[in-house]
Amino acid sequence: MEINKVGVLGCGLMGSGIAQVAATAGFDVSVLEVEQKFLDKGFAGIEKSLAKFAEKGSIKETPQAIRARLHGTTSRQDLADCDIIIEAIIENVDEKKKMYASLDPIVKKEAIFASNTSSISVTELLTAVKRPERFIGLHFFNPVPLMKLVEVVKTIATASEVYDAAYEFGKKLGKVPVRTSDKTGFIVNRLLVPYMLDAIRAYEEGVGSIEDIDNAMKLGCGYPMGPFTLLDFVGLDTTYYITHVMYDEFKERRFASPPLLKRLVMAGWYGRKSGRGFYDYADPANPRAGKF
Ligand code: 3HC
Repeated sequence: MEINKVGVLGCGLMGSGIAQVAATAGFDVSVLEVEQKFLDKGFAGIEKSLAKFAEKGSIKETPQAIRARLHGTTSRQDLADCDIIIEAIIENVDEKKKMYASLDPIVKKEAIFASNTSSISVTELLTAVKRPERFIGLHFFNPVPLMKLVEVVKTIATASEVYDAAYEFGKKLGKVPVRTSDKTGFIVNRLLVPYMLDAIRAYEEGVGSIEDIDNAMKLGCGYPMGPFTLLDFVGLDTTYYITHVMYDEFKERRFASPPLLKRLVMAGWYGRKSGRGFYDYADPANPRAGKF
């Protein structure tokens, strides 16, 4: 099963990162978006990131040569000859299923369908297509061009040769693939989400300030970011959504949203992307920790 052409659905933070990594690895990539302006925004981010890598000498080709393998489109037909489709659209079951159902009759029969979902059941998504044995999860991490991991998710319907091909594809992308199955949260979020939620509970219980908890985990454990910096980086709305899916699945307090997370999301304070979350990013170089 040879993979040459890659289709990416969505050109947001994750989709553009996946497209960049695939093009850097030598694949021909088509990225589907609903409007040209989203492609323009995503591709501008890719160009900026490729320029940084070129500056550091960490890519073998010029950014222009890599960029030439990336094609943006708003037409589903342009994905017909892709060998793998990686979906990275909004975390919404119905939207994702609609997207897969509309592409299933267009994209060639042998192609693999993959989802970058972080918490939605891959098994639920595969019910939207007539090729369930060719459906997998490929979960990347933000920022995709820098984070080395990809979780390769098998469902009870996935054919072994499809799973193996996806695993090898993960390696060709320059990532370290890990094998996991379709259990909510997979490996990383199963462990990371309760940790981040516990940091919020520790703060609510007065264990330490936001800055002190962040510094403690950063300097005491060697983590690149403390839990609140990471929460703001991942997005509080995203995390809040994931807590719902995980709590619904496991019915355990460790996966439930602490009240403060809910309040911040209700206020529209989603973290770095909205300029405010656990920190205030009015001066992005010097984020100020909030007091709640
Ligand atoms: N492309 C190219 N270069 C980039 C880049 C990008 N997209 N983003 C950052 N860089 C560069 C920076 O310019 C900087 O370059 P410099 O050394 O020349 O200044 C370098 O990478 C390091 O960046 P920073 O100085 O800004 O900061 P850090 O040293 O802290 O590194 C980080 C940034 C790699 C993001 C690091 O902080 C980190 O690993 N953080 C944890 C991220 C993490 O845990 N991600 C997973 C989130 S969970 C998830 O995604 C799953 C989902 O389902 C929730």
